[in-house]
Amino acid sequence: MASTIVSVVGGRAVKGDGEAGGAPAGTLTSVNPSRLTDQVAEVTLASAGTFAAACAAAKRAQPAWADVPAPVRGRAITAMGRIVEANKEALARLVTRELGKPYAEALGEVQEIIDTCDFFLGEGRRLYGQTVPSEMPDKQLFTFRVPVGSVAVVTAGNFPVAVPSWYLVPALVTGNTVVWKPAEYAAASAMALFELLQAAGLPEGVLNIVLADGAATFAGLEQALQAGTLDKIGFTGSTAVGARIGELAGRHLQSPCLELGGKNPMVITPSADLELAVEGALFSGFGTAGQRCTSLGTVIVHESVHDEFLAQFGAAVSVAAVGDPAQDVVYGPMLDQKFATRFEEYLGWIQPHHKILGSTGVGRVSAANPREGFVGDPEAGLFYHPVIVDGVQAGDALFRQETFGPIVGVMTYARLAEAIELANAPGYGLSSSIYTNDPREAFQFRRGVSAGMVSVNNSTSGAEAHLPFGGNGKSGNGSRQSGIWVLDQFTRWQAMNWDYSGRLQKAQMDVAELTADLDFRLTT
Ligand code: UN1
Repeated sequence: MASTIVSVVGGRAVKGDGEAGGAPAGTLTSVNPSRLTDQVAEVTLASAGTFAAACAAAKRAQPAWADVPAPVRGRAITAMGRIVEANKEALARLVTRELGKPYAEALGEVQEIIDTCDFFLGEGRRLYGQTVPSEMPDKQLFTFRVPVGSVAVVTAGNFPVAVPSWYLVPALVTGNTVVWKPAEYAAASAMALFELLQAAGLPEGVLNIVLADGAATFAGLEQALQAGTLDKIGFTGSTAVGARIGELAGRHLQSPCLELGGKNPMVITPSADLELAVEGALFSGFGTAGQRCTSLGTVIVHESVHDEFLAQFGAAVSVAAVGDPAQDVVYGPMLDQKFATRFEEYLGWIQPHHKILGSTGVGRVSAANPREGFVGDPEAGLFYHPVIVDGVQAGDALFRQETFGPIVGVMTYARLAEAIELANAPGYGLSSSIYTNDPREAFQFRRGVSAGMVSVNNSTSGAEAHLPFGGNGKSGNGSRQSGIWVLDQFTRWQAMNWDYSGRLQKAQMDVAELTADLDFRLTT
């Protein structure tokens, strides 16, 4: 039986009768994409008013949360990590059921939350500021990190629990309160994480969850910004929506944390270990059915090794296990119908000059369009053939646009400088990878590539939870998540100076001078 999921604002469930300031805005059903007859949850959608009311509740709760000593907030993060750990399998099972992520990967996703908690639990005892010498006597300078305030976090469903934790955990430990708006089609997984985090003993209103569609969310953000009850937006999703959020936030002099799409390149040089490169291309091109923001977009392979790489890659993809995510497969279904529909549009970008490899068909896997070796019943869910498109050219839509789904382009280059130009050409800049055994090539690529993340002899996916995660260009506005770097998203520096000399000492003017002899030269 499907559970019913409603928003929780200020510790109260919003049943949709106008509580928390908003009327209900409809319902939707979250379904299992690998078994469409399995309804995972009934979701009551909130209105823009409810979203704005949640921001107001978060804003009200924030001063008291900021007054909780940071080490005590850190204890809450410790508890979150342990509670999630104790529920690891249950949460991973739910992620597999609701989003179709293979169970092994879902376990990895839950581990990423635990890693994030483990990293930030100590931050409550650090949150270091600095003491800085003054240019005048009897005066001391200090810096303090202060929370930004109330934060709205809007996340996608491809990493329904790990990526949200990248926002929620650091935001909370630094003394902010949060309104989390997860993807509607991932509502059950999101509610499970919300309950696990809430079990750490967060006071009411510190963490709120709102289920709403895109339009209501955007209008809610607008209302809250207008009302002054929202101080920061974190958003993971498409480049187009990210640009609109950036524009909205900018009108209120805010700089959002944006984690957007990618068209992530993998360069394969003549010195590369081709077997390793094939393994990396398979994992990052087709893992999560190509629906990670770090998924491989285009392989840019040196012309001298192109044929050998393509033969090996084609063979590996042809035999890769695709199907039931509860079993040992490389990938399962598309996350949701809307991604399946959009993927079919991307398949329409394949042109006569392209050569297709990797499967026994293209498009949705069915009895009439079978995939050899498919694991389970293809007709039960939203399963798609993997596609390798060779002969991609710089002018192709397939080269220039993100194609969220199991499709990877392949093209050739002659000189490394050309490969770097191609890697940057689509204008995204999230993740990138180079396979080489020549350190000069690795560092030349690092310097030239515009991506925020660079892998050497590793795929474009699989970022560790404590390195800066984020992109440039169409992939984001330069904000970074994870590790110490995300602290700058959720805190602001406050500078303090304290003059205890008992007189007005004017900076730059009342500063002692030493007399230097700048004409001094050695006589030898
Ligand atoms: C995302 O797709 O939004 O690096 C995040 C990875 C994962 C996170 C991806 N650890 O593939």
